[in-house]
Amino acid sequence: MSTHSGKTKRITVPDIAARKGGEPVVCLTAYSAPMAKLLDPHVDLFIVGDSMGTALYGLDSTLGVTLDMEIAHGAAVVRGSSRACVIVDMPFATYQESPEQAFRNGARVMAETGCDGIKLEGGTEMAETVRFLVERGIPVMGHVGLTPQSVNVFGGYRAQGRDEKTAEKILADARAIADAGAFSMVIEGVVADLATRITQAVPVVTIGIGGSPDCDGQVLVTEDVLGIFTDFTPKFVKRYAELGDAIGQAAADYAAEVRARKFPGPEHCYGTKTNNTTS
Ligand code: KIV
Repeated sequence: MSTHSGKTKRITVPDIAARKGGEPVVCLTAYSAPMAKLLDPHVDLFIVGDSMGTALYGLDSTLGVTLDMEIAHGAAVVRGSSRACVIVDMPFATYQESPEQAFRNGARVMAETGCDGIKLEGGTEMAETVRFLVERGIPVMGHVGLTPQSVNVFGGYRAQGRDEKTAEKILADARAIADAGAFSMVIEGVVADLATRITQAVPVVTIGIGGSPDCDGQVLVTEDVLGIFTDFTPKFVKRYAELGDAIGQAAADYAAEVRARKFPGPEHCYGTKTNNTTS
């Protein structure tokens, strides 16, 4: 969509919210300006996920990601894109303490990145915080099911909602977040039937990752999709390219040419004014 000035109009939070039950929302993670620029024409929504901890920084979990990291990468994704709505993750321990802490840090993220909204993990226990933020002007995307910031409580990254008791709890979490005013929520790592039930039960857009095709949209971590991050591959990941192999091959070709003094060639070298082979 273009504005009168010919500039692309960015997809807004209300635009995403209006997609409930409609055309599926296409979402990927992004952490950098060049990647955002490449993906922007194809996606509706970017999540600047704290998955950057594992996918980009080589951490074991998302727990070491800081607010400053999210802000730096969030601002880069906003600069690199012009069309997709951009949601920035709130890292562990930057919002759970109180609604006031969440507002203070969420407002910093909004002001310093120029993003469209924030995402936070949690269910019923976070509902008061979600309401507090939304009433004060910060759009919130929730995140229920297998919430990676609670990996130590779960004891690992295991699919959730396999028994009726946990399924009911996750459903109640989703309802609480929606009632509190979240415009959307990620449903991660739950049995497919539960993702479908949640999508039918809540009036807001659900974005599945390890959810079900019935969710209102889907998200994957871009480095997983492109075959760049290969340390482990969850069941829900589908690889659409093997860029890891392509990068390795490019590095090997470069190394061979440097060692053989084939690179740089004359076309990569500056000439003098008299020997003007290149400019
Ligand atoms: O951290 C992340 O990248 C996420 C998305 C995959 C939903 O939370």
